[in-house]
Amino acid sequence: MSLDVQWIRSHFPSVQNSNTVFLDNPGGTQVTQAVIDAFREYLETANANHGGLFPTSERSDAMVQQARRAFADFLNAPLENEIVFGPNMTTLTFTLSRALSRWLHPGDEIIVTRLDHDANVAPWVALEERGVVVKRVDINPDDCTLNMADFEKQLSEKTRVVAVGLASNAVGTVNPVREIADLAHMAGALVYADAVAYAPHYPLDVQALNVDFLVCSAYKFYGPHLGVLYGKYDLLDRLHAYKVRPAENTPPHKFETGTPSFESIHAAAAAINYLASVGEKFGAEYASAYPQFSGRRLHLKTAMRATQAYEKNLFARLFQGLRELPDLTFYGIANLSRFDYRAPTATFNLRGKTPQAIARALGAQNINVWDGNYYALALMERLDLERTGGAVRIGLAQYNTAAEIDRLLQALHQL
Ligand SMILES: Cc1ncc(COP(=O)(O)O)c(C=O)c1O
Repeated sequence: MSLDVQWIRSHFPSVQNSNTVFLDNPGGTQVTQAVIDAFREYLETANANHGGLFPTSERSDAMVQQARRAFADFLNAPLENEIVFGPNMTTLTFTLSRALSRWLHPGDEIIVTRLDHDANVAPWVALEERGVVVKRVDINPDDCTLNMADFEKQLSEKTRVVAVGLASNAVGTVNPVREIADLAHMAGALVYADAVAYAPHYPLDVQALNVDFLVCSAYKFYGPHLGVLYGKYDLLDRLHAYKVRPAENTPPHKFETGTPSFESIHAAAAAINYLASVGEKFGAEYASAYPQFSGRRLHLKTAMRATQAYEKNLFARLFQGLRELPDLTFYGIANLSRFDYRAPTATFNLRGKTPQAIARALGAQNINVWDGNYYALALMERLDLERTGGAVRIGLAQYNTAAEIDRLLQALHQL
């Protein structure tokens, strides 16, 4: 075991102080004590608006800049000013798609996928009103992987943007985003990557992925409700921002319209520092894989490698237990040898029971799981599950234990 789960759990008051089994993690994780403390610290010592010539404002601005540095480390972005904060990933994606639309002309094409959360689909479909054509990459329905042959067929010299997720929030599939980015760039398109469902489980590196933009949400990896956008500086600089006139017109500020939640930004940095501490404590065995990194950048990479190893193990236990249930239909990659290509998110149906009934029965036992489509609308339609209430989704996080998986499986057997 690469993580000491009791050490991990000791950092999460809501996990420690309740009898709840949190398996609703793809919808949002619990937060650490340091994240809670950071809200208080900001509000007690630095509660002021941006750009004032007095100590609280200067402290606030310094905290925001420290948070940019923390996220640049987390994503391995070259510059901290390539990090834009926003209320959530969805809002940031609408902001970016609208900004990018200034560069598009009628007949230009955008590629989205049927695997993605609608937050990486609807903001691009909204550009159809400007004459842009949106193309949709299909999936292989047997294992819910992207149909790469279909992607290559849809890609052309007319493609201007490829919007793709790193991992599916619904069925866990990890997509070959580096390969997609290389093909897209050869065709002259920009790549907008949704890392919301990937960031909690794997090391991230925007330079290795070579994506132009990447978004994630801090509340999916132990932080507060906050969206984070990385963009290559030159692109952020050249893009038009829809902003008020007195606000700064340089990245990242020009995309952060209005007054941001500074306290959330400061608390999100606390989540990153928590992850770095996980790497420092449990990541040593992975350090040799990252000779190019040191300090916090290294600790964040090794933390996520240790997390990946821990969660993969736990996921195998969950998967094997689920398979013993009669009348189970499991969605996505179901081959243990391919579990490095799926996030630890299990999605299934049980014949004769609606997903809602299962989620409600588990919820009554303080076992939190999601049902429905989780906004992965196109996927649920493709699998023909939209009519029948979608599926049940169980998503793991660092703080889940084997005993919790066993409690869930027992509850499922007794339904
Ligand atoms: C894969 C994925 N993309 C995007 C989103 C939207 O993120 P946000 O809630 O930050 O807008 C989610 C939320 O569940 C998600 O899982």
